[in-house]
Amino acid sequence: MHKNTDTRIINSNKSIKLAIAAGCLSIILGMITIGLFVSLAAPAMAEWAYPAAVDITWSKNESRGDRLAFSVPKLNLVIGANPKPTQAEATIAQLPVYDPEVASQIEPKQDFYTKHALHSPDGIGKFYLGREIAKVMGHTEAVWLERPSRQWQEDPDAVIAALHLKPTDVVADIGAGTGYFSFRLSQQLTQGKVYAVDIQPEMIDILRFLKTENAIDNVETVLSDPQDPHLPSQSIDLALMVDAYHEFAYPHEMMQGIVKALKSGGRVVLVEYRRENPFIAIKTLHKMTQRQAKQEMAAVGLSWLETDESLPSQHIMIFQKPMQELEQETSSTEVK
Ligand SMILES: C[S@@+](CC[C@H](N)C(=O)[O-])C[C@H]1O[C@@H](n2cnc3c(N)ncnc32)[C@H](O)[C@@H]1O
Repeated sequence: MHKNTDTRIINSNKSIKLAIAAGCLSIILGMITIGLFVSLAAPAMAEWAYPAAVDITWSKNESRGDRLAFSVPKLNLVIGANPKPTQAEATIAQLPVYDPEVASQIEPKQDFYTKHALHSPDGIGKFYLGREIAKVMGHTEAVWLERPSRQWQEDPDAVIAALHLKPTDVVADIGAGTGYFSFRLSQQLTQGKVYAVDIQPEMIDILRFLKTENAIDNVETVLSDPQDPHLPSQSIDLALMVDAYHEFAYPHEMMQGIVKALKSGGRVVLVEYRRENPFIAIKTLHKMTQRQAKQEMAAVGLSWLETDESLPSQHIMIFQKPMQELEQETSSTEVK
């Protein structure tokens, strides 16, 4: 009898132990399953079931103001209370509509250029759209601009012919130097005129001297600055830059000024040594590829019209100010 009782007690102890072990095992397995679900399946389900996951934030910040926000990032929705608006928010709230002039005061001025310490000895270490800007040719080299060999090297008569000018046209020769092109242009513009523009006062002195010496009255000299051609708005039919554009220290600003000075549909002509050809014996930074020139002119809203390749070593690249401006001007005049 005793023996049977002992056996039953031993058996029931074993069962209890087994039950406890099974319970522990199922708890562990359950926890692993929950863990796996939470880490793997739940986020995926939440993503699927709750695309509009909610985010509640409370921030206390002196400069930004206290903020309680209830946001639904997926829906780009924020419902929040901000008892103390920031100064920027207060300013923006007072602005009636988007005004580019006000925006230009608030938004930082865009810098179009990058500077690199490692650069060509012929450049200024400043790059525009990947091109290093060349050093300006000083006035002490003015005589070189008048060298007789230029006649066959650059064929200036072919350049003038490629412009297809009307006698009444007004042309700006920008980076005019000694006026090698300004005075040739003036002969074509019997009823028009030439603005001979340069940043070096010494070049302007030379231009004035030659103008008086040759009694030329349709060339007007303009001393400009590196960021502004100083030309009247919508006054020119064509802007010519021969071997000059690659030296502009602020090409973007200069071109914006030139575009402003152009009449609607007016043209910009760049004459530059072909950089695509390594055998043209001119310093690399004093040459330009067509691709680069097109990129830089497009940056100021000019459209490429054509490239004349009739010169021995230079591109004659012709661009145009959009004609839409003409329609806009006409309609704004009509409103007035
Ligand atoms: C190599 S010379 C060419 C002169 C002339 N176009 C010619 O073909 O004989 C370049 C001229 O561009 C002028 N220049 C450079 N940067 C300029 C700028 N931002 N605005 C106007 N002229 C500039 C220089 O002072 C220099 O006289």
